[in-house]
Amino acid sequence: MDERYRGFPDGFFARDDASPDERFYAPTRLVTHLDQAAIEAVGVLYAELGLTGAVLDLCSSWVSHFRVPPARLVALGMNAAELERNAQAASWLIHDLNAEPQLPFATGSFDGATCCVSVDYLVRPVEVFDEIARVLRPGAAFVCTFSNRCFPTKAIHGWLAADDDGHLGVVREYFHHSEGWGTVVAERRTPPGHPGDPLYAVWARRELPTGSPT
Ligand SMILES: C[S@@+](CC[C@H](N)C(=O)[O-])C[C@H]1O[C@@H](n2cnc3c(N)ncnc32)[C@H](O)[C@@H]1O
Repeated sequence: MDERYRGFPDGFFARDDASPDERFYAPTRLVTHLDQAAIEAVGVLYAELGLTGAVLDLCSSWVSHFRVPPARLVALGMNAAELERNAQAASWLIHDLNAEPQLPFATGSFDGATCCVSVDYLVRPVEVFDEIARVLRPGAAFVCTFSNRCFPTKAIHGWLAADDDGHLGVVREYFHHSEGWGTVVAERRTPPGHPGDPLYAVWARRELPTGSPT
């Protein structure tokens, strides 16, 4: 076990369904996991963060929620029939981040990375976040967005036990425990009292090399 998981309680990363993820994600689900206002809030944030060049969408499916698709979107997920329908993606790949946190991409090859409504399924998030930092160019942002629902049998117990503010704290910890990030921002992106799905986001930018101008 990586020492960096020491601060998390026992059982935090356990799941009710610990079977290989390929089994659960084999059925094609051409559904949206957020309502339209929350999807719009995701797109607004992506634009705000300047996710325009080569972008990696982790835990992707048939929709990636960009208002304007980036120049080259790579969609990584578990279901081929979903990913091949992703109209915003220039390319896609099947890759199980829980079985293999290492990413099959060159160091510094992306200008941004996203993970929408899926960070709660990662059982080795610290290694995955390390890898995301590795494949990002200095200054590039990685943003996790989520709401208040999930596939409960596949979400980690630590997530299921936390409330919305707790979820912001969990993802903040993933950034803090992994290597290569600058300041972490954690926010509710829909207004208080918003009647539909709330949207939350946590993001940070790949650190600049020491000594470079800010
Ligand atoms: C709730 S869906 C979200 C899909 C998409 N990001 C969206 O915004 O609609 C969860 C996604 O996480 C992906 N996923 C789950 N476990 C994964 C794993 N171990 N490695 C890679 N992707 C995974 C699934 O393929 C699925 O598309």
